[in-house]
Amino acid sequence: MTLLLIAGAYLIGSVPAALLAGFIITGKDIRKEGSGNAGATNVFRILGAKAALPVALFDFSKAFFPVFYSQWLSGFFGIQWDNQLLLKLLILSAVILGHVFPIWSGFKGGKAVASGAGGVSALFPPALPACLILFLIIAFLTGYVSVASLTAAWFLPIFYRIFTWLAGYHYSPELQVFFIATAIVITVLHRKNIVRLMRGEENRFRRKRD
Ligand code: G3P
Repeated sequence: MTLLLIAGAYLIGSVPAALLAGFIITGKDIRKEGSGNAGATNVFRILGAKAALPVALFDFSKAFFPVFYSQWLSGFFGIQWDNQLLLKLLILSAVILGHVFPIWSGFKGGKAVASGAGGVSALFPPALPACLILFLIIAFLTGYVSVASLTAAWFLPIFYRIFTWLAGYHYSPELQVFFIATAIVITVLHRKNIVRLMRGEENRFRRKRD
């Protein structure tokens, strides 16, 4: 039954909101436009905020809700897990795997920023406002969402350590390792952005005018 739950999480993660938005609104394959990424940033670049916001919210939610309701889900599937945190991390890893390598769209997905944020918010809610504010400041200062995503991803373990230390939240070394691993995965997924940034060729997030 655990495998069924993990497979379900992978299938939910695989739902390609950005790709669907592109096809439904313009009939375009978003992966052939802009940065080529099947994510909310590229939808914003090509289709604007009205399309990008629902995509970002959907990607966020598809990770947030399965992790947030993991206890209920494990009861529903009749799974007995003593370590609920490990179950949450497994569910989130499966959702992210689905988002990055979606079975429904040729295993070519996004960069796990919105979905990662959703999962992280369910695991450690104080991280959301801190990372979001940092993300918005960096995005507007630089004009590059990739820089903002990478900065927020690497500040997540720092914020986690600071908040647990200063505000008395429970500190879990396993969760900290997961957050560092998430930052590494997001960095690897942004490798083309990093190369473009170094060459001064990175795409801005502002909407392309026709
Ligand atoms: O969330 C993805 C973002 O960090 C970069 O997107 O389209 O500029 O590659 P993009």
